[in-house]
Amino acid sequence: MRIIRSIRGLQTWRRKHENQKIGFVPTMGALHEGHLSLIRQARKQCRIVVVSIFVNPLQFSPTEDLSRYPRPVKSDQQLCREAGVDLIFWPSSEEFYPKDFQTSVTVSQLSQRWEGEARPTHFEGVTTVVAKLLCLIRPAQSYFGQKDYQQLLVIKHMVQDLNVDTKIVRCPTIRESDGLALSSRNRYLSESQRRSSTVLSAALKQGVKSIKHYVIDVRKIKNNMQEVLRKTSGISVEYLAVCDAKTLDPLKSVRGEVVLLGAIQIGSIRLIDNMLVKLPSMN
Ligand code: PAF
Repeated sequence: MRIIRSIRGLQTWRRKHENQKIGFVPTMGALHEGHLSLIRQARKQCRIVVVSIFVNPLQFSPTEDLSRYPRPVKSDQQLCREAGVDLIFWPSSEEFYPKDFQTSVTVSQLSQRWEGEARPTHFEGVTTVVAKLLCLIRPAQSYFGQKDYQQLLVIKHMVQDLNVDTKIVRCPTIRESDGLALSSRNRYLSESQRRSSTVLSAALKQGVKSIKHYVIDVRKIKNNMQEVLRKTSGISVEYLAVCDAKTLDPLKSVRGEVVLLGAIQIGSIRLIDNMLVKLPSMN
C-alpha cells in the first residue's frame, strides 16, 4: 500500500495508471466499519482502490471544533492496509489548499435545506473538496455512505452538473446492533448519551413502520416518530422530515420513494440519520 501526500506525487501516480478501473473512497479518517464497508465494496468492483484521508477545514464552521476532530493516524493506516487499499492520498491542509486558493463549488438549491440550514457553509466545503479530489483521482466509481444522505445527493448533483466522469455508488448505512448509525462523532458520546442516542433510529424506524402500514399522511407519520422521541429526555430535535427521496422536498403525503430525515442534539453532539422507504403495493 502506498501513501502519497503531495498533489504532484498523486498526479504522477495517476498518469501511470491511465487505463485501470479506480474505485475511490473519500474520508476524513477516524475510520470505522462504515468506511470499511465502502472500501470492501470498492475492492470487489475495481482494480485499484484509493482512499483519501483529509480532515477538510472548509466543511467546518468556526463554531465546530476542527482541531478536536479525531485523527488516529496509525490505526487508519493499519485498517486501510488490512482492507486491501492500494493507495492512501493523505495531504496536509497547506498542500491541499495553498495560500492563494480561491475556488469554491456550490450546489445551490439542494445544499440549502435541512443540514444546510443548520450548517450553512458545510456543503460548499464538501463539494469543493470532493470536486478537487475527483479531478485529481479521476475514479471510475466513487463510494459514499447513505448515512449522509443529503451529502450523497448534493455530490450526485455536482457530478451531473459538472459532467464528472465517475459513477457515484451509494452504500448502505452500517449500524450498531441497537440501531445507532456508525459515525466518527459517536466516540464523543458519554455512556448515558450513548444510551439515549438510539432514539433517533428508533423514531425513523417507527416512521418506516407507519408507511409500511399504509399511513400516508405525513402529519400522522411525524406524530408517530415524535412520540418515540418524546420518551427520551436530554435530547433536542433539530428536524424530522418526510421528503421526496430525490429532491428532498418535504411532502404532505407519501408518494413514490421517500426518505425520512432526522437530526437531534444530545449535549454538544449532533446526530443525523435517515431511512428510505416506499409505500408497499396493495396486491
Ligand atoms: O463524508 C465525509 O467524510 C466527508 O464529508 C467527505 C465526503 C470525505 C468530504 O470531506
